[in-house]
Amino acid sequence: MYFCINELHYMYKSLIRPLLFLFDPERVHHFSFTAIRIFSKLGFSRLIRSMYLIEDKRLERELFGLTFKNPVGLAAGFDKDAKLYNELSDFGFGFIEIGTLTPKPQQGNPKKRLFRLKADQAIINRMGFNNQGVFSAVERLEKPHRVLIGGNIGKNKVTPNKEAMKDYLICLEALFDHVDYFVVNVSSPNTPGLRELQDKEPLTKLLIALKKENTALATSKGAGEKPILLKIAPDLNEDQLLDIIAIVQSSKIEGVIATNTTIGREGLKSDVLLTEENGGLSGKPLTSRSTEVIRFLAEKSKNAFPIIGVGGIHSADDALEKLEAGASLVQLWTGFVYEGPGLVKKINKALLNREHAPN
Ligand SMILES: Cc1cc2nc3c(=O)[nH]c(=O)nc-3n(C[C@H](O)[C@H](O)[C@H](O)COP(=O)(O)O)c2cc1C
Repeated sequence: MYFCINELHYMYKSLIRPLLFLFDPERVHHFSFTAIRIFSKLGFSRLIRSMYLIEDKRLERELFGLTFKNPVGLAAGFDKDAKLYNELSDFGFGFIEIGTLTPKPQQGNPKKRLFRLKADQAIINRMGFNNQGVFSAVERLEKPHRVLIGGNIGKNKVTPNKEAMKDYLICLEALFDHVDYFVVNVSSPNTPGLRELQDKEPLTKLLIALKKENTALATSKGAGEKPILLKIAPDLNEDQLLDIIAIVQSSKIEGVIATNTTIGREGLKSDVLLTEENGGLSGKPLTSRSTEVIRFLAEKSKNAFPIIGVGGIHSADDALEKLEAGASLVQLWTGFVYEGPGLVKKINKALLNREHAPN
């Protein structure tokens, strides 16, 4: 069956999105999960794949010893508890990042904690690592994976920063057999004090400890080591970004994910009642800042390590810009909500067209 991506896009934006946007964003998120699960159980997975998935060898990317079917991934925070990774992969993603997971389950911040800034094509969230805990995710990850899975790990809110390392190590160990790469999240603005772990000394110690544990687990299991990536905030200044480059190189982790949500609020058009909500801002207002961070890291490090680019990708051009700035792969979250699932296919089609274009 042939589906034109422009028709799917039009249908989402003119019919489905206006309907979904009538309701509370967190409820819509849960409703969408239920709908996708029911559709898959009813046997519609193949139909969804025929609509959204492009399988083409030219889209494959080899990175950290892994083969990504295409360079467009689903960013962390969408499927925090690894409940729907296979079904979500039907929408054409080359990889899915689950988490952020913490050792113990936690509720996150009180609701309401997720806000749409429609005039800015943005979201503010202060979810606060709501998740059912890493061990519950491990059970769900037992089933075969149709796609590469990243495990994004963090610390519980009740764990003081000086004991944070223990939480990250617990998550690394629990997920080791179940994910393809790890992401160390020290950049969420919604866990008090978490971003202080981005400072040079604690971050170096944390990454070295995780690397060591990774090697020890690989040796004891007779398996390969898992790539470890660091996810950073877009609000770091140039000196802090230079520190990040030095830390990545000295700790010998495999790469960086740039970026998480921002605490900045510049140039927003939405009502001040919305823009003043606490939390991390994602979507269109983040596009150029996260691309700047990618370009800075790639240039200053002389492309010494791979970067996954994320932040405000709402079009194929946004994704191509990040790849041209130095990202090897990209991820999206807010664009998936505003533009619809067809965005993944649009980006992959643009990549294929670019290959055909004369230089
Ligand atoms: C509601 C929501 C929850 C998120 N939760 C997480 C999370 O748990 N861990 C994480 O590393 N990033 C989380 N993020 C950040 C995204 O992974 C991404 O880095 C950020 O939103 C920028 O990309 P975007 O503009 O495409 O949304 C979350 C984002 C949103 C909107």
